Amino acid sequence: MWNASLPGAAAGPVVHPAVQAWRSGTLDLGFSGSGFLLFYFLGVLQSLFDLGIASHSTRMAGSSGGALTAVGGGCGGVAPAVLLRDLTATAEACRAAEQCYHTLDAAVRARLDSTLPADAAARCSSRGFVAVTRADPTGPDEPLLLGERYHNKSDVVAAAAASSFLPYWSAPSPFTTVRAFEAYDGGFTAPLPCPPPEGNSTYCAIAQFRALSRYNTEGNVTSPAPELDPLPGPPPPEVDIAPGKPGLSPLPFPPATWDSFSLTSIPNATAARLIFDTGAADAAQWARAVGLEAAAAAGARGGRRRARGGAGAAQRQRA
Ligand SMILES: *[C@@H]1O[C@H](CO)[C@@H](O)[C@H](O)[C@H]1NC(C)=O
Ligand SMILES: *[C@@H]1O[C@H](CO)[C@@H](O)[C@H](O)[C@H]1NC(C)=O
Ligand SMILES: *[C@@H]1O[C@H](CO)[C@@H](O)[C@H](O)[C@H]1NC(C)=O
Ligand SMILES: *[C@@H]1O[C@H](CO)[C@@H](O)[C@H](O)[C@H]1NC(C)=O
Repeated sequence: MWNASLPGAAAGPVVHPAVQAWRSGTLDLGFSGSGFLLFYFLGVLQSLFDLGIASHSTRMAGSSGGALTAVGGGCGGVAPAVLLRDLTATAEACRAAEQCYHTLDAAVRARLDSTLPADAAARCSSRGFVAVTRADPTGPDEPLLLGERYHNKSDVVAAAAASSFLPYWSAPSPFTTVRAFEAYDGGFTAPLPCPPPEGNSTYCAIAQFRALSRYNTEGNVTSPAPELDPLPGPPPPEVDIAPGKPGLSPLPFPPATWDSFSLTSIPNATAARLIFDTGAADAAQWARAVGLEAAAAAGARGGRRRARGGAGAAQRQRA
């Protein structure tokens, strides 16, 4: 059934829950961990913004590269194309510096600092949620979702950096510090984070792909590092947009090359752009298949602004 078509693709009166949620202003986005495949997520955002389905006011959550997407391209108000450019520069610098071994955390923080606006805390509170793994010396490490209220821009930077912190890779230490506790990459314990549900019609959409994974031609999820993917097996139906998902675009690289981008190798500028374009195409195809594209177009014709926060918020973001 999963392989046959996208949910909601069938003709008929059935309204996809994502459309219902969008109509009531409760369509949220969740972004999994991604490594440098986060360029895919930036493409997804670009499409959803272009189609009027999401805005910088849409509530988003993410782990790791997904967290950078949610606070940068989401609540932080940075245009996805600008983030693509900036993060491509970071990627190029890392490619020239031993893949940023032991310096990735510093590079991520510097990029967040220079890219996020001064009022990031106000913009991102209750909008941009990031998952971190809390290192607990007395028990099992636990996922923690930050973002209900950020104190200041440094707090947003620290939260997103902790969400992206790969033990012994980002720096020569097992964790970093955020709000006086020790934490590391949220993808290890919260591979598919969503904002906390708000009301009863919330649909935490889409743009998730499972930690470090993609779909093969039979529609099964494969992972280059199964030990980091806690959800092996057929995908749950709530994963909406994912690389290689049946019905969406074919991967622009051989599977082994694609997988390497999520773990060990950093894409060059050409590859980053291709990954971005694939995410953009996939989001557009998904939006068409579930009826969101048509709903958003009809909403725009009616002069209605369905994105959470409305036109006023969108204007404030541009100001
Ligand atoms: C930001 O808030 C944190 C508390 O989360 C505080 O420790 C820190 O001093 C503040 N930084 C600035 C620059 O105000
Ligand atoms: C959802 O909430 C609305 C408004 O609060 C209420 O009218 C409706 O009955 C609720 N629906 C369900 C299924 O709980
Ligand atoms: C894909 O999943 C189906 C059903 O779960 C299974 O029968 C099939 O062998 C799997 N194929 C591959 C290549 O893993
Ligand atoms: C960029 O990376 C891709 C994929 O790894 C590779 O095929 C291509 O040759 C590279 N291009 C340049 C200009 O290095």
